[in-house]
Amino acid sequence: MSYNLAIDGPAGAGKSTIAKKVAKELSFIYVDTGAMYRAMGIFFCDRNIRPDEKERIADSCKDVQIQIAYEDGEQQVFLNGTNVTGRLRTEEAGKMASSVSVYPQVREKLVELQKNMAAVNNVVMDGRDIGTAVLPNAQLKIYLTASTRVRAQRRWKELEAKGLRSSLEEIEADIADRDYRDMHREISPLCQAEDAIYLDTSEMTIDQVTERILKLASEHFCL
Ligand code: DC
Repeated sequence: MSYNLAIDGPAGAGKSTIAKKVAKELSFIYVDTGAMYRAMGIFFCDRNIRPDEKERIADSCKDVQIQIAYEDGEQQVFLNGTNVTGRLRTEEAGKMASSVSVYPQVREKLVELQKNMAAVNNVVMDGRDIGTAVLPNAQLKIYLTASTRVRAQRRWKELEAKGLRSSLEEIEADIADRDYRDMHREISPLCQAEDAIYLDTSEMTIDQVTERILKLASEHFCL
């Protein structure tokens, strides 16, 4: 039997930073499912398929192969054999991922891969539908969130640190748009699973959140 820790929440809540730290402490594999949707988004972008071209997207899903590997503990995403990890973390890839994640053909493909990984590995898996649809039997589920303003400020600081000037208002509007799309799509919208623990990180540091989750993990897993 494998241990599964599911972390869901909106964009910018700190899921990947925290999930990665928690996974390292527990010696679990970290599975970033958003990266898989981003890779699918890149596939359609590269083929000049727009997110509203429903039939072309449904048709071309059969031509996509997503594979996950680990290098020095870091998740690598392969799109039809090419490592696309370096292209995943742009705003464009995030928006494209959110737009194409509404299609059942896209979700079915990725959910199958995610379930298979969690069946044979101890995983910390983060995303939007992990506790509700992908791993409904996960032993521990966390719903991680923060206010829209705080999430926008964190993103703004990240960009600033990279020397990129941006408008806080624009970032906040983009985050609100993405939240709306992720929470209102027909299939597996982002919502808190009934048995998930709600954690608002607006007033918490990364270390405080990590500690809190590790404590919960020690109560839920017999490690
Ligand atoms: O977590 P992220 O920002 O990398 O995710 C990008 C988009 O992918 C997100 O806006 C919606 C989609 N996604 C999803 O639909 N289901 C998941 N489990 C993970 C991501």
